[in-house]
Amino acid sequence: MDILIRDACGRPGDDPIFTINSLANARRAAGMKVVNASLGALLDDDGNLAVMDAVTEAFRAVPPARGAAYAPIAGDPVYLEAVLDDALGGTKLRDCAVAVATPGGTGALVTAVMNFLEPGQALYTSSYYWSPYRIIADQNKRTVATFPMFDEGGKFHLAAFESNLVELLQRQGRALVILNFPCHNPTGYTLDEDEWKGVVAALERCAKHGPIALLVDLAYAHFGVQDRVLWARLLEPIASKVTILAAWTASKSFAQYGARVGALIAAVPDADARSHVANAMSYSCRGSWSNCNHAGLLAVTSLLTDPSLVSRVGKERAALVQGVSERVDAFNRAASEKGLRYPRYEGGFFVSVFTPNAKVTADVAAEGGVYVVPMDGAVRIALCSVAVRDVEMLVDHVARGIAAAEQQAASATA
Ligand SMILES: Cc1ncc(COP(=O)(O)O)c(C=O)c1O
Repeated sequence: MDILIRDACGRPGDDPIFTINSLANARRAAGMKVVNASLGALLDDDGNLAVMDAVTEAFRAVPPARGAAYAPIAGDPVYLEAVLDDALGGTKLRDCAVAVATPGGTGALVTAVMNFLEPGQALYTSSYYWSPYRIIADQNKRTVATFPMFDEGGKFHLAAFESNLVELLQRQGRALVILNFPCHNPTGYTLDEDEWKGVVAALERCAKHGPIALLVDLAYAHFGVQDRVLWARLLEPIASKVTILAAWTASKSFAQYGARVGALIAAVPDADARSHVANAMSYSCRGSWSNCNHAGLLAVTSLLTDPSLVSRVGKERAALVQGVSERVDAFNRAASEKGLRYPRYEGGFFVSVFTPNAKVTADVAAEGGVYVVPMDGAVRIALCSVAVRDVEMLVDHVARGIAAAEQQAASATA
């Protein structure tokens, strides 16, 4: 008799991205020149994790007895207000928004899936997506449905977004749409203003077919080049027709991946409905992690509200964003010289390059010491962990990998 229930048997114990990372590190330890573009953490040009001094100080300054005490289940009210200001400040959504603290953006995604989809239903996202969406869905007895992310011109595929969403609504009666912009993981894509307007119009039409919650995954919000609340302003007119959610996290914006500080935000114009949503979200917190890392919540509250820390974080973060954008520029230069096909890329941790065979491309690149993550139809490059001086070598080996994949595809059809 199996000790595990049927669903839990045969689960993979290793994450494919961490496996690639270990291979890269082993090659480096053996003395080979390696460019490891597998992991999504921001490293400086010497390969050390980028941290911000102001953030470290704020964590050290948390009074031990406060940090050691349980946080309120939904999170400290001051923390929640500060997060709402950071995510939605200056927009009308801010006036009708509630939030609960969660362990990172991951916790926010879990809470949304548990409350805005029935068991057995599919969350709805783009064909390229952060793979834990599927694990979160699966673990919670939900699934994933997608639309092709890009049209033939390489732009966001609005028509497919709408038509697949209508079909899904007809099938399951409600939808939880997850869009990860700006700086989508894994493609690097950011919707421009017209594309957001197209999404808003499509959602308004689709809402006639059943209740929709749109969750904007803000994991990389501080790394985009766009006005940070543009999306929220554009969504204001449909807030009474579509429930607007956001997954907020301190992981990338404060370079504090390990602190597990995040929040699920819900903008709900109707006061009664808002209090039901707040209660449901808080109930889910109690039933999954009870409450969050209190020291982390207190430190991030200071970072969001203390004027001198706010200003220091602003400067330190700007330096990190500048470092990333130098890599982005270097990548765009080298990749266009080599004629690589990839979506519009203006900033953020990742970019994906299209290839007819991602495995062949990743294997050939790895032979040359460049480690990227193969996906369906593309390889993901974590530029966040690549020094600017290594970008050319990276592009060179990815280009070789794509040429090998194309050659293989051509000989298969010959
Ligand atoms: C697209 C996306 N969403 C959410 C997250 C959640 O991260 P965390 O739980 O650390 O906030 C990540 C982290 O890599 C991500 O890439």
